[in-house]
Amino acid sequence: MNLKLLFFCLFLAVILIPAQTKPDKRKKHHRHRDHGNGPQEIRGRKRGRHERRRQLFKDIINDMFFGISGEDDDDDDDDPSEWLFDIQEPAGQCDPNPCQNNGVCKEKGKKRKFKCDCQKPFRGRRCEKGPKICKKGICGRGECVLTSTQPYFECKCKHPFQPPRCTTYTTCEPNPCMNGGECIKDGDDFDCNCPEGFSGRFCNVGPNDCYEDDGESYRGNVSETIDGDECLYWNSHFILERGIDPFNTFEDSDGLGPHNRCRNPDGDMSPWCFYRRGQKLLWNYCDVDDCSEEGIAPSDVPSPPAPPAPSATSAIPKPPTPEPTPATPDQEATEPPQPSDASPTPAFSETRFSTCGKPQPKTRLSRIYGGLKVSPGALPWQVSLQARPKRSTQKYKHICGGVLIESCWILTAGHCVHKQEDMKVVMGGLSLDTSEPTEQIFDVEEAIVHENYKETPVSVHNDIALLRLEDTDGVCANETQFVKAACLPDGPLDDGEECTISGWGATEESDYGSNHLLEAKVLLINQEKCSESSIYGPVLDDSMFCAGHLQGGVDSCQGDSGGPLTCEQSSTHFIYGLVSWGDQCGKKNKPGVYARITHFLDWIKSKTQASPK
Ligand code: ARG
Repeated sequence: MNLKLLFFCLFLAVILIPAQTKPDKRKKHHRHRDHGNGPQEIRGRKRGRHERRRQLFKDIINDMFFGISGEDDDDDDDDPSEWLFDIQEPAGQCDPNPCQNNGVCKEKGKKRKFKCDCQKPFRGRRCEKGPKICKKGICGRGECVLTSTQPYFECKCKHPFQPPRCTTYTTCEPNPCMNGGECIKDGDDFDCNCPEGFSGRFCNVGPNDCYEDDGESYRGNVSETIDGDECLYWNSHFILERGIDPFNTFEDSDGLGPHNRCRNPDGDMSPWCFYRRGQKLLWNYCDVDDCSEEGIAPSDVPSPPAPPAPSATSAIPKPPTPEPTPATPDQEATEPPQPSDASPTPAFSETRFSTCGKPQPKTRLSRIYGGLKVSPGALPWQVSLQARPKRSTQKYKHICGGVLIESCWILTAGHCVHKQEDMKVVMGGLSLDTSEPTEQIFDVEEAIVHENYKETPVSVHNDIALLRLEDTDGVCANETQFVKAACLPDGPLDDGEECTISGWGATEESDYGSNHLLEAKVLLINQEKCSESSIYGPVLDDSMFCAGHLQGGVDSCQGDSGGPLTCEQSSTHFIYGLVSWGDQCGKKNKPGVYARITHFLDWIKSKTQASPK
């Protein structure tokens, strides 16, 4: 009886918490990972999981994410990128088929030209919207995870809330502490008193639970990050909703399953997991012991009984019919390359590099929707432009990005070049603070800024420069797995195409930038649309274009300038833009503005050919 009363009060408290504390559902695209820290700092912050004492219950109650509503507030019908569909329909309407997830396309004579008949449970104009199984509030105070059998979801309750829908609770009944742990009530809260050798919130971590080497083989039970955040289930709706399907994204998904235990499926340095902060999806390394540090031998860590079998290859429940499994955007990106007759050549004139625009096959490292850690060789044309005051002996500092287009030529933004500075270019590396064996470093012999380069208080026009590198017998960069040129395009691309931006620039977490090269996907935005008064107004000219997401979130930022915006066609990457300017970063209706490479093709040709090298 008392418990019921208490629950009622808590329930009222949740309802009465002011509406403005609700996280903005739209602010969901997080460009970068949560920590720019290297391994040292991470280890330094490591707290023993054995010492931690947390107030589970209050954490959960105060977490506005778990609103108990049961209402279907179907906000994704209001899609800020719908404008794209309105301004650029595919030329042949139904060929290629614009309908995703096995949707059937029907040509229509009228304005919208085609209609997609979607296979259940997909919806949307192009059947791009997945099943809305995990409606807000359906799992009360718990995590909604997707399963492959009816009803295609399950609620993983945060203790002490109880299944099936995590709306009622009982503290310590049933006992949430595993392995003989004792549940001790503490007012509204509870704690597990674990038997000797056991640890973790629920005594779920056994004495020999540790990882060997980089933890790829780790199959233990730790499900907390080094900062004490609880891991999300790998099949959590929250992850999938942000465009990441761990089961199809990572190289080695063997250890993943419908559980929330730490794993290392992508060759990182130790087991990690996704976690959630408000509406943000983040990842962090886990609070797992390293067997060699602890002097413990890993044992076969017994796993708690497995929940219902997941689908073998995907966390997303398959639609009833037909095969094949619907492709996620990620799957599409990894489809085998289309054979192509046209083999593009790098830039113009002498071709010292045998190819351009062909990266190393990717080992998938995607973590955060909108911001990904680049894997070795995936963007081999990206360079870091570093500078120091002329004739000084100071350390060179990263100031901008740049793009390798030929052995001795780099494209960068005009505004990155300053007469009073010496510059060098570093390529083939991913980390700014460690020198990597794959790196190649060159002095800049000549910088050619565009003759019509112009800066105004709000915009930068003709923001392009060529850097000629110091050569040895006419050769500068050597083509390797990690150093390759991007291809120059022949002509413009359609609005709405998805392209890649990259750089070491500022992130949401760090104004100083990221130590590891990051990449993000952006869409090419129609010039008229971007010139609307609510966006940039009339300042845009032909030397620039906008790319990004009008709803905000994913964007380039300070320190990314001069770096590439490349678009892939027939498995070849072409350089279409250079990061130039923008009104702050990641703001709604303020996308990034990029120097338009197709506008400068003749300029690039004339400068690179006129030069002795
Ligand atoms: N000017 C910046 C730089 O020097 C790039 C800014 C890009 N801004 C944006 N919102 N995309 O690095």
